[in-house]
Amino acid sequence: MTLLVVGFSLPAYAQAPSGEAIYKRRCAACHERPADGRTPGIEAIRSMPSSRILRTLDFGAMMTIAYQLNRAERDEVARYLGKPGGDPAPRLEAFCSDRSVSLNTNASPIWNGWSPSPNNSRFSPAALSKLTADQVPKLKLKWAFGFDGDISAFSQPTVIGNQAFIGSAGGVVHALRADTGCLQWTFQAAGSIRSAIVATQVDSRTVLLFGDLTGWFYALDAATGKEIWRKRPEEHEAVRLSAPPVVVDGVAYIPASSWEESRALNPEYPCCTFRGSVTALRVRDGSVVWKTYTVPRAAERTGATSTGVATLGPSGVGIWSSPTLDLKRRRLYVTTGNNYSLPATPTSDAVMALDLDTGRIAWTKQLHPDDVYNSACSTDPKGAGCPPGSGPDYDFGSPAILVSTTGGRELLLAGQKSGIVWAIDPEKNGEIMWETRVAQGGINGGVQWGMAADGEQVYAATSDVVVIRTPTARQLDPRQGGGLTALKIADGSKAWHTPAPPCGTRPNCSPAQLAAVTAIPGVVFSGSQDGYLRAYSTRDGSILWGFDTVQEYKTVNGVKGSGGAIDGPGPVIVNGMVFVNSGYMRFGGAPGNVLLAFATD
Ligand code: HEC
Repeated sequence: MTLLVVGFSLPAYAQAPSGEAIYKRRCAACHERPADGRTPGIEAIRSMPSSRILRTLDFGAMMTIAYQLNRAERDEVARYLGKPGGDPAPRLEAFCSDRSVSLNTNASPIWNGWSPSPNNSRFSPAALSKLTADQVPKLKLKWAFGFDGDISAFSQPTVIGNQAFIGSAGGVVHALRADTGCLQWTFQAAGSIRSAIVATQVDSRTVLLFGDLTGWFYALDAATGKEIWRKRPEEHEAVRLSAPPVVVDGVAYIPASSWEESRALNPEYPCCTFRGSVTALRVRDGSVVWKTYTVPRAAERTGATSTGVATLGPSGVGIWSSPTLDLKRRRLYVTTGNNYSLPATPTSDAVMALDLDTGRIAWTKQLHPDDVYNSACSTDPKGAGCPPGSGPDYDFGSPAILVSTTGGRELLLAGQKSGIVWAIDPEKNGEIMWETRVAQGGINGGVQWGMAADGEQVYAATSDVVVIRTPTARQLDPRQGGGLTALKIADGSKAWHTPAPPCGTRPNCSPAQLAAVTAIPGVVFSGSQDGYLRAYSTRDGSILWGFDTVQEYKTVNGVKGSGGAIDGPGPVIVNGMVFVNSGYMRFGGAPGNVLLAFATD
């Protein structure tokens, strides 16, 4: 998977430089004496806490500029520029009058992690959703919660009865009451949190598990928000934990991906050494049960680029999404990304089946071979840093869905950035049962973050986002991309396709639908880059309801709130309420910082 970036050419890479040196090389040209009225001057940046500057580099306005900086360099420059101490505490008005956390994991309706069911179908049945197709057109905004200082909102909430937990791009975990959005506690993590929070019971307490985008994995006490332990399941500097873990019998299975692909934008970066993995950790103490890499051996030097920089491989094959659980076969299925450097491995762009108890790879089904790609290819496919014969960057950002057909036969559904939805056989080492194209496909999807399936149909939203590049800027094509397709699970035939409604005159708008979709009986919900959340009839794809999230909000926590592009995870539907994030800065999408909650009353 790659992230699209602006073609800044930055000065050469330096080994472990000081914060001051990094500032001079990487930041001063724009920030020392800005005259454009938009770029904050050095004095303004010096007044910010270091933690805020770091977050700007990791997942804020300076994200594309920071791609080339490794962890240590980011830390150094943020510490050099900013003030010590963290962000200001939430305002008092944000907190509930009674801050106790209510947890009844046995009796309450629960959406926990990526999908309410471990088969990753993102289907909320009637007993959980408590929302019918007839009620959907009556949905109204009930409250908005603002993530202070953030420009993206991409951590899906977990909801247990009236209790919700959600992370933020600023790295804050929030415990909130689902009906009002009032706060009970917050916890500051080291990095941005994109993963949903997974709640699990250990002895008498509820533990919350999640990873951050700097590679830390945490266990918190759900009642208090206090940290129990934190671990780095991967040592690599560029690791990011973007997906929620799966938890079974006191063991958390954690997939790992990385930013290393975009480090390769630096022409002096020796690319690449990261290997995707799943790590099984005991929830009680974080100790390792097993660890399995998606690339069979550690990277070695393979040669040098035309400019004399070492090349290393094999590498890549990150896992961006949550594993799919198959308790009957005691297996986990993961979907994988591309290689970053040569040689290609047979595990990239694949569905892999891992033994739950040992981590042994039971089988691998590769769905696009020889996909070696890194971000250097996005700026210059013939450039020194781009592996020869690169691409097409067709990784999986979506997890597989395990479903049974009417005949009782099971299959795994996987939607790929190539634009193809695959059905493969878990009994026969992933043998292909059918394949159907739903999108043109490309480096930004195709099918991007997640499909949903009810008993009969699978729903795949289409990205096909088109970015128009000019020498000075990039813009999203308002006429191309988007759409939602329903396929019959039995044979992959198309039940219906609904093209994206046009973007209108909104500036820099794209109708692309990258965010994961969610289904309830009779209705499927899909968010769009244009900021709309829409509900479609599962019968014929007609649009039953829509809400434009691009607006300013008066938030329940008193933070200035605005909506933007919807991307990343999808809506969570529990107990008559629909929760969705709005705001996503990636490739020019509209920024925003809100969690929105809808209900019919
Ligand atoms: C090519 C020009 C350019 C470079 C290089 C650059 N910046 Fe920026 N920076 C900007 C602009 C433009 C903005 C305002 C962004 C906006 O308002 O959307 C900004 C905003 C910021 C902000 C404020 C963000 C906020 O959340 O309010 C910080 C902090 C920052 N930059 C830090 C850095 C650091 C640290 C570096 C070097 C590693 C850097 N910048 C390099 C152009 C640049």
